[in-house]
Amino acid sequence: MRKAFPKTGLDWAEIKEQLLEARKDDVDWRGGKITGLVYFAGDDVMQVAQDAYTMFFGENAVYSGVYPSLAMMESEVIELTLELLHGGESAAGSMSTGGTESIFLALKAARDWSRANRPVDGTPEIIVSLTAHPAFDRAAGYLGMKIVRIPQAPDFRADVSAMAESITRSTIMLVGSAPQYPHGVIDPIADLGELAQSRDLWLHVDACVGGFIAPFVRKLGYPIPDFDFAVPGVTSISADVHKNGYSAKGASTVLYSDSEYFGYQGFEFDQWARGRYATNTFMGSRPGGAVASAWAVMHYLGEEGYMRIAQEVMHIREALMDGVNRIDGLETFGDPQLTIFTFGSTAFDIFAVADGLSEAGWYVNRIQDPAGIHLMLSLVQKPVLEEYLSDLSYTVEKVRTGRVTRGKREVSY
Ligand SMILES: Cc1ncc(COP(=O)(O)O)c(C=O)c1O
Repeated sequence: MRKAFPKTGLDWAEIKEQLLEARKDDVDWRGGKITGLVYFAGDDVMQVAQDAYTMFFGENAVYSGVYPSLAMMESEVIELTLELLHGGESAAGSMSTGGTESIFLALKAARDWSRANRPVDGTPEIIVSLTAHPAFDRAAGYLGMKIVRIPQAPDFRADVSAMAESITRSTIMLVGSAPQYPHGVIDPIADLGELAQSRDLWLHVDACVGGFIAPFVRKLGYPIPDFDFAVPGVTSISADVHKNGYSAKGASTVLYSDSEYFGYQGFEFDQWARGRYATNTFMGSRPGGAVASAWAVMHYLGEEGYMRIAQEVMHIREALMDGVNRIDGLETFGDPQLTIFTFGSTAFDIFAVADGLSEAGWYVNRIQDPAGIHLMLSLVQKPVLEEYLSDLSYTVEKVRTGRVTRGKREVSY
């Protein structure tokens, strides 16, 4: 039976009680027994993200004229991100509410720029690796574009030669990820840049995961290939502050090498009773809190803070990767350079291992190609490293000795 709309209100104490009850089966990510899906950089950072959000809780970022504070913060978030990602003098962009929206906006700008400046026959096509995020298919569907997915190379990076062979007269755009989500490897962006330039195509780099960590990991001395506007041929980038930038959810950036491209992102309309309506984003109303949170965390951490966290996360990753590789029969996939890595086995059923870990109280992410366990790290895993590795090796032993046989196949969020 459908729940009835409440006749009378409750007081906060009672509501809070119900909320606590409602969340009792949620995964306890604060306890650390979740090896992905959470971006956590410490209680202090979270407090800043939350306080800034709360300060601008009632403000709507679509009304930039009403809230010059939000307009200032958004423009500074963009300036800082452009500096981080080597945007030149003419680079430009805006915030959005998340990676999916940033990707949608970049495709929309590419489609409309192409219509005006480089028209193609028929449906405009975009070529992505099989490993690119589903947001591209979603956006292409909404925007009437055709998406072509090309199997990745054996090292899990985008197969640039195969992508080149798939270019047709209708292709307008190529995509690379830095890193891609399934295996955590960075696509060969420099090669994609060369290809894009030689074929006069738009190149989008999805740095939703890497945008706010790769630059710092690199400054720490790790070998991170060029992936941003430093690469000739990169036209647009999506980078999420609400992932490894550690702000509240609802904060991403979409950036262009030139303001001319950015000019094709927005929407403007005056054929209705109210008058002119203009926005850069897909969303109308947007949480002012998310903008303030992004601005506040960037200023709270600064380069020094982001580098400190990046170093800690890299240590967590090294400990986990070494531990996994030491367990007989497990292997990590490819050469992931940042905070995501995946492992599987040719010796036994990795999904049986995943099930065993779930029974031991871990929230386990799986990937289907190749069958594997997916880790995406932040400081949340710091207190549970040893416990994870010990539960993992115990579970592997159980699977090896046939005490657990077949894991469940379904792979979803
Ligand atoms: C590589 C990549 N791109 C895009 C997205 C979509 O981001 P959002 O969930 O913020 O829309 C994700 C989400 O995990 C991602 O991993």
